[in-house]
Amino acid sequence: MIQILPSILAADMARLAEEIHEVEQDTDFIHVDVMDGHFVPEIAMGAQVVAAVKQSCDVSVDAHLMVEEPIHLLPSFLNAGAEMISVHAEACRHLHRAVQIIKNGGAKAGVALNPATPVTAIEPILSDLDCLLIMTVDPGYGGQVFLETITEKIRKARRLIDSRNLPVVIEVDGGINAETLPVCRKAGASLFVAGSAIFGQTNRHLAIETLKQSARSVNK
Ligand code: DX5
Ligand code: ZN
Repeated sequence: MIQILPSILAADMARLAEEIHEVEQDTDFIHVDVMDGHFVPEIAMGAQVVAAVKQSCDVSVDAHLMVEEPIHLLPSFLNAGAEMISVHAEACRHLHRAVQIIKNGGAKAGVALNPATPVTAIEPILSDLDCLLIMTVDPGYGGQVFLETITEKIRKARRLIDSRNLPVVIEVDGGINAETLPVCRKAGASLFVAGSAIFGQTNRHLAIETLKQSARSVNK
């Protein structure tokens, strides 16, 4: 099943509740980007924001932790009610443990891979994951250009997951729009994070519909 996940990094933070209301009818998940100023240069959104989003709507939260050694923060995000939490493979010394903490806390567990990190980095724990988040830009900023070269990595991941018959979904994040989404869909992704392609448009409903249509246009 295809899902479009609006990333509120591109939303107007001063009007966050209204921004979320504008997209909540069209999506099941809001993507919250958490940045610590170490793993990525900027600082953005903590567990408090996740709790606030949960309070303002009925939509599930997908928390993308761009945080160095996030294990100590996982209980806060679980308590805040995030339904899915992704940690970066590059940021966790004990990645398997981080995944288990997320799952034991009742959330879906994702691992995110930077563009330069190969799929083989998570191969030994692939069966523990609910979601593989493949970054299609270097994490840290919205509005960057999609890295075409990552398409092959998505394909590789899809082949690996299918060859083992695993229920892992592939999520892509960064530079997703109506042109790049079909490329990722064809390669095997089914969850599509979009910031500027949604919140950069005046009509958010239309923006999400356009993305959904672009996904439907792909004959898999
Ligand atoms: C980037 C973030 C993304 C970002 C995507 O580090 O993880 O979720 O908000 O923004 P766009 O869709 O504008 O590339
Ligand atoms: Zn993200």
